[in-house]
Amino acid sequence: MQERNLALELVRVTEAASIACARSMGQGNPTRSDQLAVNAMRAAFDALHISGTVVIGEGERDEAPMLFIGEEVGRWADGDRKMDIALDPLEGTNLCAYGRPGALSVIAMAPHGCFLNAPDIYMNKVAAGPDSRGIIDITVGPQENLRRLAQARGLEVEDLTAIVLDRPRHEEIIAEIRSVGARIRLIEDGDVDAAIATCKPDSGIDILFGIGGAPEGVLAAAAMQCMGGDIQGQLMFYKDEERKRARKIMGDDADIEAVLTRDDLAHGDILFAATGVTAGGMLEGVRFFADGCRTHSLVMRSKSGTVRTIEAVHNFEQKPHYTSEGFHQKMKSVGK
Ligand code: FBP
Repeated sequence: MQERNLALELVRVTEAASIACARSMGQGNPTRSDQLAVNAMRAAFDALHISGTVVIGEGERDEAPMLFIGEEVGRWADGDRKMDIALDPLEGTNLCAYGRPGALSVIAMAPHGCFLNAPDIYMNKVAAGPDSRGIIDITVGPQENLRRLAQARGLEVEDLTAIVLDRPRHEEIIAEIRSVGARIRLIEDGDVDAAIATCKPDSGIDILFGIGGAPEGVLAAAAMQCMGGDIQGQLMFYKDEERKRARKIMGDDADIEAVLTRDDLAHGDILFAATGVTAGGMLEGVRFFADGCRTHSLVMRSKSGTVRTIEAVHNFEQKPHYTSEGFHQKMKSVGK
């Protein structure tokens, strides 16, 4: 199957995960929300014509029952393309579990070796839209990055909006941004969605700063490759054990302290799909109605630069969908 068709297949997988976990929105049970998304995504992968290996996933085999790093997903039939997969079945678990905006299901796929094997630790990040390529630099700090971006856009720094995860660890970053007068949008979770927003001209978001998950950094870089935006990251080590984990997964020779460019994080012919779970700035959430639902997804490919938004109406009477009890189909009048 050609990659351009594969991108459209991939979105079925994020749709399945989103539909399953959206049922748990606001139920206050993050573990269940996550599990529903993981189960549905795992099941939906079985129909995909790929020989896929998860390289960014739910964790290592011993800590994650499914979609763990190294797990094989897809049909694995003769002739199926060998692909590496970076995924987060529910990015923003708490956003879904507590009914807040911006949760999504996300997958990026590329030929083997195109994604950084990032350990599940923190990463400092800066990301912005296409006109920031070659301008943003994680080593110079928020103030200078804002000045550079404002200059490139012919704006005042005060006209820019930075998006930052609302965490105590970001006190200093927030103080720096405030000191130059830029506006700040604080979010509770979801820095993949936030990075994507910097590439969308009408999102009202110009630049992302701050420390989030390293795996999310790879997913964000995959999206930035498709949308032409830029991102840099630097792994953060708070404990010795994290350095050991980084060396184990990235190799003894890897420079684990290095500034990681967009290409270091993700390169090659990347396919990217994300489906909204709860309504956010980028994507609508799943909306249920009698016997069906509506989903809103983003499907992108780095090679062509095509960015598609797909609104899909799913008919539960004619198509099986994943529920907490497994696949469910109302067999009312499915054509025989
Ligand atoms: P999960 O969906 O895995 O909970 O991640 C949500 C998230 O907000 C990410 O978007 C972000 O990179 C990371 O968590 C930040 O980590 P922390 O919540 O520990 O500050």
